[in-house]
Amino acid sequence: MSVASYKNRLLPWFIMLSLGLLSTDRIPAQEKRQLPEGDQCIICHQEEELLPPDFSENDVHLQQGLSCAGCHGGDPTKEDMDESMSPKAGFVGVPAKAQTPQFCGKCHSDINFMRAYQPRIATDQVSQFYTSVHGKKLQQGDPKVADCSSCHTAHAILSAKDPRSSVYALNVPATCQKCHSDKDYMKEYGISTTQYDEFVESVHGKALLENKDTGAPACNDCHGNHGAIPPGITSISHVCGTCHVNNMQYFATTKMAREFEKEDIHGCEECHGNHAVQKTFDDMVGVSDESVCMNCHGEGDEGYESAKQIRLSLGNLVAAYDSAAAKQTEVQRVGMDDVDIGFLLQESHQSLIQARTLVHTFDPVQVSGKTDEGIQKAREAHALALREIKDSKIRRMGFGVAALFATMLAVALFFKIREIERKQGG
Ligand code: HEC
Ligand code: HEC
Ligand code: HEC
Ligand code: HEC
Ligand code: HEC
Ligand code: HEC
Ligand code: HEC
Ligand code: HEC
Ligand code: HEC
Repeated sequence: MSVASYKNRLLPWFIMLSLGLLSTDRIPAQEKRQLPEGDQCIICHQEEELLPPDFSENDVHLQQGLSCAGCHGGDPTKEDMDESMSPKAGFVGVPAKAQTPQFCGKCHSDINFMRAYQPRIATDQVSQFYTSVHGKKLQQGDPKVADCSSCHTAHAILSAKDPRSSVYALNVPATCQKCHSDKDYMKEYGISTTQYDEFVESVHGKALLENKDTGAPACNDCHGNHGAIPPGITSISHVCGTCHVNNMQYFATTKMAREFEKEDIHGCEECHGNHAVQKTFDDMVGVSDESVCMNCHGEGDEGYESAKQIRLSLGNLVAAYDSAAAKQTEVQRVGMDDVDIGFLLQESHQSLIQARTLVHTFDPVQVSGKTDEGIQKAREAHALALREIKDSKIRRMGFGVAALFATMLAVALFFKIREIERKQGG
């Protein structure tokens, strides 16, 4: 079969497939389920075109048969509007904003009710919420703070694991940003509105939003889902430390950490920031202009001396590593075996990574202990590389001698043959 006829056979399939993909609205077929049948609330609201604007068929409650009446009350079996939406049938209508937590909490704070559906879902959202700045202010009657539906929507509520959810990790920053980046909306509170913009440019924001790395923190990983409180002085290093375990452990043992606490200085934030955390580099420690240490320490004090020593140790390891790595490239170029050199370099690099974390002990002795290990490995790699390069030279010389010998042999043979030919011819 020719390529052209193959194409002709595939084309109709291709078109059908494309149309099929377009028509499924990008929702996988098996996820699209039916609305509850015979539910008069939905039937009438659909006919009257009075479905709420954020209505979605994918809402978890609808999917579990907890339809309009589950939240708003009323009798979904009655076709008549007055009967269906009668207070006698339990209809509560639209909750006032300040009532939303109880409105949702009717089920979500009821452990027995929730257990029947999804035992894994916690039942503390409402109590948690009231510990947050949002919850406290809502209780005091502030209508601008977030209530349950500000973050979850009211009619398109999905599990946080569903990529379409407003609280899916990758969508959380945009959900918070609606209010927190709105200068006019936030004006009266006198807090900054740059959290989102800074976050997007941060190492965390890039990992989360560009590389889709859900291991990187979204707003709620630092602030809590429902207890959206700015992490306090004592909890802040814990918040960062839930992911950066070693950094926190090293830092916690230092005198500096204790001093920070006394003076109400936030630990990690002081050197790394909070929303604008950036990729780190060795010159952040040391005595240059780029060093964070110089914000608080100056020539003559212990911090200054330690910063200088630590930077020196790191620099020595980097230099030893780079020089060995350059030799490895040479080994590769002459086609010799570089496997063991590679292993040694890996170990050396591992020491460098560990030394950078050990910076958080702010102790030159602990850092140089680790950098010395790395330098040792780099030196071994360097020595091995030199040996390989030398071997390759010897081998090449060997080849040269052999080649010369072979040529000489060939030449001798040539003359010998000619001599024989001449003898026979003559
Ligand atoms: C026969 C039609 C019909 C049925 C059945 C019906 N509704 Fe309605 N609903 C309406 C109309 C029309 C409105 C808007 C006019 C109004 O508020 O009276 C409305 C308004 C509402 C509102 C907004 C009320 C407000 O105060 O703004 C909610 C919430 C609501 N319906 C929920 C329900 C629920 C829950 C059910 C089922 C138990 C239900 N409806 C059944 C027609 C219906
Ligand atoms: C998970 C609970 C929940 C379910 C289920 C639910 N609602 Fe609502 N509904 C709310 C909340 C909370 C509000 C008020 C906040 C808002 O409008 O965002 C609301 C508001 C409304 C409003 C007023 C909208 C407006 O813009 O003023 C209408 C109408 C309504 N719901 C109808 C329905 C209908 C019809 C259904 C079933 C298809 C339904 N609701 C299912 C929680 C729910
Ligand atoms: C009638 C009881 C009821 C009410 C009222 C209710 N919920 Fe639910 N909700 C449930 C049940 C049951 C589930 C579990 C559904 C399932 O099995 O996936 C659920 C699931 C959820 C989930 C998904 C949890 C997950 O991780 O899978 C969220 C988020 C949620 N509800 C938020 C709300 C909010 C916000 C409100 C108020 C606007 C609300 N609910 C009102 C019963 C209710
Ligand atoms: C400031 C935004 C915000 C507010 C306000 C908020 N939530 Fe959430 N909620 C979240 C986020 C973010 C998650 C997802 C957490 C995760 O990634 O697992 C979540 C998760 C949930 C879940 C499912 C996960 C679980 O097991 O806890 C439920 C149920 C829920 N919220 C209900 C509520 C209710 C009820 C309210 C009101 C009392 C509320 N939420 C208020 C942001 C919010
Ligand atoms: C409906 C708008 C709205 C949404 C959505 C919202 N917030 Fe808020 N938030 C507010 C308002 C208003 C305040 C009160 C500001 C104040 O009193 O300083 C606040 C306060 C806060 C505070 C305390 C600030 C302080 O005073 O120190 C934090 C932290 C916070 N929000 C985080 C979040 C996070 C994280 C999200 C998303 C998961 C979020 N918010 C979603 C409106 C919102
Ligand atoms: C890596 C952790 C982390 C992440 C991610 C994070 N925050 Fe923060 N946030 C903090 C810390 C730490 C503070 C400062 C607490 C303090 O100084 O009391 C803070 C403070 C705030 C405040 C109080 C006002 C201010 O700027 O000091 C708001 C509002 C806030 N964050 C919202 C957000 C929003 C919205 C997002 C997502 C776009 C977000 N945060 C992401 C750690 C984080
Ligand atoms: C939910 C886990 C999590 C939390 C909480 C968290 N981080 Fe991170 N952090 C990460 C991940 C993942 C990366 C790597 C991002 C990347 O580059 O891919 C990272 C990267 C970093 C980096 C850059 C490291 C480098 O190689 O240069 C610094 C600095 C940092 N975080 C500091 C903090 C601080 C300070 C806090 C608290 C305010 C914090 N982190 C909270 C997960 C977290
Ligand atoms: C006094 C300043 C200072 C404090 C406080 C501080 N760091 Fe660092 N951090 C640094 C410096 C300097 C570097 C760069 C080290 C290097 O690259 O040589 C760094 C590097 C990092 C890195 C990247 C290297 C690695 O270990 O992977 C992370 C992540 C990090 N810090 C997290 C934290 C966390 C979490 C806290 C709070 C527990 C914290 N830092 C507190 C100064 C500080
Ligand atoms: C936000 C200010 C601040 C920054 C930034 C800072 N320090 Fe400190 N440092 C202090 C304070 C406060 C103390 C305790 C008072 C003192 O002993 O001088 C301290 C103490 C020290 C000590 C003495 C600890 C002891 O056990 O006696 C060393 C060493 C040190 N810092 C190293 C560093 C290094 C290295 C950096 C940069 C990576 C750095 N510091 C960045 C404020 C800071």
